[in-house]
Amino acid sequence: MSQSPIDFLLTRRSAKFVQSPGPNDEQLRQILQTAMSAPDHGSLKPWRFSVIRGEAVPRLADRVITTMREAGAPMPAEKETVTRNWLSKVPVMLAIACRLDHGNTKIPEQERVLATGAAVTNILNAAHMLGFAGFWSTGLGTYVDQVGEALGYDNLDYVFMGYLALGTPSARVSTQPRPDVAPYVQEWTGL
Ligand SMILES: Cc1cc2nc3c(=O)[nH]c(=O)nc-3n(C[C@H](O)[C@H](O)[C@H](O)COP(=O)(O)O)c2cc1C
Repeated sequence: MSQSPIDFLLTRRSAKFVQSPGPNDEQLRQILQTAMSAPDHGSLKPWRFSVIRGEAVPRLADRVITTMREAGAPMPAEKETVTRNWLSKVPVMLAIACRLDHGNTKIPEQERVLATGAAVTNILNAAHMLGFAGFWSTGLGTYVDQVGEALGYDNLDYVFMGYLALGTPSARVSTQPRPDVAPYVQEWTGL
């Protein structure tokens, strides 16, 4: 049964465990392009993505584990194994960063980070629309400054915001309905 655009938004699910096939070059280009439609105060386009795929994905695991150890924040041994196993199957990882353009003092950092988050949401929805799934993770040493630096995002100029795994879900994705939004919404009438 074909899904309407609103159905796609209503049915999106994250999937941590993804495998090949991942998006091909053209699909990945389209998925990334949706970042450019994110709401963006001041048109700063603060989002930055590093595409890590194929053989580079296990290299990412090595780099993160080594960098965390050298930074004095080692990943526990069992977590190392779990992480390597997870990444051994992931076809595409995106490293996500928000660029802090210090030349602009008008737009607060929070808004730049929110714009980057909105760009990632577009990417997650686009991946879902093309039949893939994604999973945003702030594991893998996201909050260890040296890890962001090892990926090219020094913390003076960037907020490193973690990783997005992209691919085909390894297991059936839940179709449980989401909770009703009503308790999270109220009407303000001004009266
Ligand atoms: C900024 C951000 C960071 C996240 N980091 C993690 C993480 O490190 N580990 C985790 O289990 N889930 C993390 N999540 C949650 C998952 O990406 C996912 O949203 C969650 O499992 C719920 O699935 P759903 O998106 O289908 O509702 C993060 C979500 C966001 C927005």
